[in-house]
Amino acid sequence: MQDKKLYIETYGCQMNVADSEVVMSLMTKDGYQLTEDIDEADVILVNTCSVRENAEDRVTARLNEFKTRKKENPEVVVGVLGCMAERLNTKFFETHTTRKSKVKIADLIVGPDEYRKLPELVEKAQHGEQGIAAQSSCVYSGEIGVETYDDIIPLRTNGLSAWVTVMRGCNNFCTFCVVPFTRGRERSRPLQSILKEIKDLSKQGYKEVTLLGQNVNSYSDGNYDFADLMKKSAEIDRGMRIRFTTSHPADMSDKLIRTIAAEHNICNYIHLPAQSGSDKILTLMNRKYTTSHYLKLIEKIRKAIPSVSLTTDIITGFPTETEADHRMTVELMKQIRFDGAFMFAYSPRENTKAWSIADDVSQEEKLKRLSEIIEIQNKISYENNLTLIGKNVEVLIEGTSKRSEHQLKGKTDTNKKVILPRNGFKVGDFVTVKIESVNSATLFGTDKN
Ligand code: SAH
Ligand code: SF4
Ligand code: F3S
Repeated sequence: MQDKKLYIETYGCQMNVADSEVVMSLMTKDGYQLTEDIDEADVILVNTCSVRENAEDRVTARLNEFKTRKKENPEVVVGVLGCMAERLNTKFFETHTTRKSKVKIADLIVGPDEYRKLPELVEKAQHGEQGIAAQSSCVYSGEIGVETYDDIIPLRTNGLSAWVTVMRGCNNFCTFCVVPFTRGRERSRPLQSILKEIKDLSKQGYKEVTLLGQNVNSYSDGNYDFADLMKKSAEIDRGMRIRFTTSHPADMSDKLIRTIAAEHNICNYIHLPAQSGSDKILTLMNRKYTTSHYLKLIEKIRKAIPSVSLTTDIITGFPTETEADHRMTVELMKQIRFDGAFMFAYSPRENTKAWSIADDVSQEEKLKRLSEIIEIQNKISYENNLTLIGKNVEVLIEGTSKRSEHQLKGKTDTNKKVILPRNGFKVGDFVTVKIESVNSATLFGTDKN
């Protein structure tokens, strides 16, 4: 068995990126080589996202392209992984109709908790077996799944920055969100095993680790909470940056804030999705906090960590959102002045609670509200960045800038992108840079010598 080639394409959140590394690890152990050239692949895997309809539409369109490929080379095995695989499962074998296209494709469908079976299932598909689908039985039954892939070392290729999954699943059931239905209930890896993984990464020369979970600050292995995990992770190698994502405002404890403030290699960056500035909408979303709680939390964080950078997620046009509710979101954004925001128009997802509330804000109105907040946020991001001109920031060099090979790109600990002249620096260097100019997304400067 030689020269079997695997091509994998990943959509969605960092959890999917990390899961693809688990899949690559399992498949290379089974004798596969990775390829970036889809034309030479024996197996094509697509790791998918269901979070919004347009995320699914993109994958569906891509799978349609593979259909032509399969006509030319029927030997190729096409597999769908990830959240769409869990959500739609055997529907992929039917003529699956979405708003934009019809699809009948995929030789196998494997949900996020079933990747250990992949090598075996791929082989079955290669022998012509039809209708291969693996879905976690726990997701719909509400049982707690056990899979954490704790013992699998992900196949990482970048050598600099690593994703480390510390918990999987989500118990929050925000009423708009499909994640609890695709990823099942929360489960955490044992602390010692995570620390060992980080120690190994440090030995391999990694300079940055991001602890990952759908609701990462509700991490608990029975003995240790997320603040304990962060502190112990930071102690392993003080030359290594520690980040985390995504945290939920209802689980942002004082102990965690104190830990971020106290440990200098824990990055001064917090992504804290607010979703809306209207209490009525937050209640309907089942977010379990009010705007006043959120504002107090931000105040506490800024007091404890003065140089902190904060980003958020906002949804426009959730069912029943009025112009007045929307104005409250605008006010919240203007009051807090986030460094950045990921903003989305509400997209109804089957099985969620909000699915049964009428999607009564027109698409036009959702998009109008969305472009208004995008414009406001861009201006705030730019103004926040302007205050950095003349200041020195520490940058971890990540690679060559897209614009010019004479320039490098890197990130501050506050997660801002920086462009600087190459000046003999290399990937993995920490460089003190004096900021000279900015736009809303990037800082430009020169190393301070
Ligand atoms: N677990 C993370 C990420 C969830 S998905 C968290 O709790 O923050 C990332 C973001 O996508 C969410 O924060 C939300 O803003 C957005 N999102 C999720 N479901 C959505 C939907 N149905 N429509 C529009 N945006 C959605
Ligand atoms: Fe979805 Fe809410 Fe869980 Fe985040 S916390 S994954 S938005 S249900
Ligand atoms: Fe998407 Fe699944 Fe992540 S729905 S956001 S890939 S958890």
